[in-house]
Amino acid sequence: MEQARKESRMAVLEIVTAKSARAGILRNPTRRVRTFDAGLHKLLEDMIFTMREANGAGLAAPQIGLDQRISVIEWPEDPDKPEETLRRYEVINPEIIKAKGAEEGQEGCLSLPGLAADVVRATFVLVKFQNRHGQEVRLKVYDWLARIFQHEIDHLNGVLMTDRAEALYRIVENEQGEVELIPLERVAA
Ligand code: CO
Repeated sequence: MEQARKESRMAVLEIVTAKSARAGILRNPTRRVRTFDAGLHKLLEDMIFTMREANGAGLAAPQIGLDQRISVIEWPEDPDKPEETLRRYEVINPEIIKAKGAEEGQEGCLSLPGLAADVVRATFVLVKFQNRHGQEVRLKVYDWLARIFQHEIDHLNGVLMTDRAEALYRIVENEQGEVELIPLERVAA
């Protein structure tokens, strides 16, 4: 009951897609966050709620129409125990300090529904950011979590996965209800 009441105070924010009237915000540079107050905390809660509702692993402020350097990420520490090890990251004013390795993987984006992209990303990044209280955090992340951080930080710089894609696919469901990926020659984001 308590949980339900708590969640009812959170808002599902509208996600800006490439087809939205406000799509331009996805390409805008973002501003550093300087105020770490209750308003920021409410925004972070709403962003996490919105990301979960949309089944996303990450959500960046431009995707909800805000030009601020904020993103939220939720990903399990142990992919074999996703529920027990789910961890959330509130990533404010992030910077990639170090990056190593390169691996291709297939990504999706809440702002590009129905698209998948093969993107080469670093397999390790050292990222510096601030938490909701403005305290500096340095974090080493690997593999899929490193990929999510790079994808989200790209959003804060107006970069979309389609800009980096080696290949793009349209996600379609066939008559049997199975998901199929149809390769695309070119996609304008
Ligand atoms: Co995205």
